[in-house]
Amino acid sequence: MAVQASRVLFEARKSLSDIFGIKNANDIAFGSNTTEALNLAIQGSLREGDHVIATMAEHNSVRRPLEYMRRLRNVEIDYVPVNAAGAIDLMQMERMFRSNTRLVVCTHSSNLLGSILPIGEISLLCRKHQAILLVDAAQSAGVMPVNVQQLGIDMLAFPGHKGLLGPQGTGACTLRQSSI
Ligand SMILES: Cc1ncc(COP(=O)(O)O)c(C=O)c1O
Repeated sequence: MAVQASRVLFEARKSLSDIFGIKNANDIAFGSNTTEALNLAIQGSLREGDHVIATMAEHNSVRRPLEYMRRLRNVEIDYVPVNAAGAIDLMQMERMFRSNTRLVVCTHSSNLLGSILPIGEISLLCRKHQAILLVDAAQSAGVMPVNVQQLGIDMLAFPGHKGLLGPQGTGACTLRQSSI
């Protein structure tokens, strides 16, 4: 039974790697939902005194761990405003980067506004300023194409139980090995 379970898990890793363009199937850490994956990524990548850029479109599952890190780890956060159409100004975002900006967290598609954020362009800013890009794909995974290599995503948090039509209580975080 253990061997059978390992096979099922490996098949899931392979399928997810195909769907999201993940190079190494072992770069996927399973958990119980997107919230857990986001907490793992945020708390696992930030150090005392780091600066983070996120957007005003973020779900509570991003805002809460970020604010927790602000309170307990002295992490500084800037939130990029979102306009009435749910879009962000990339130039405004770029002006927020600092020498200690370690992480940029961005929802791919907002559950509140339905807008889709320009992950490819945000990734270019992250490369330029040497920051890690974490994308919350709770609403987009399985619904629209998400290729971590093409979009330049370092960490992707996604649920199994939404657009991927997987079992309840499943989610995962991917990590590009060169990212941290
Ligand atoms: C944008 C966004 N992020 C995160 C979450 C949290 O997802 P989960 O229920 O998988 O923890 C949701 C839930 O609807 C969401 O819409």
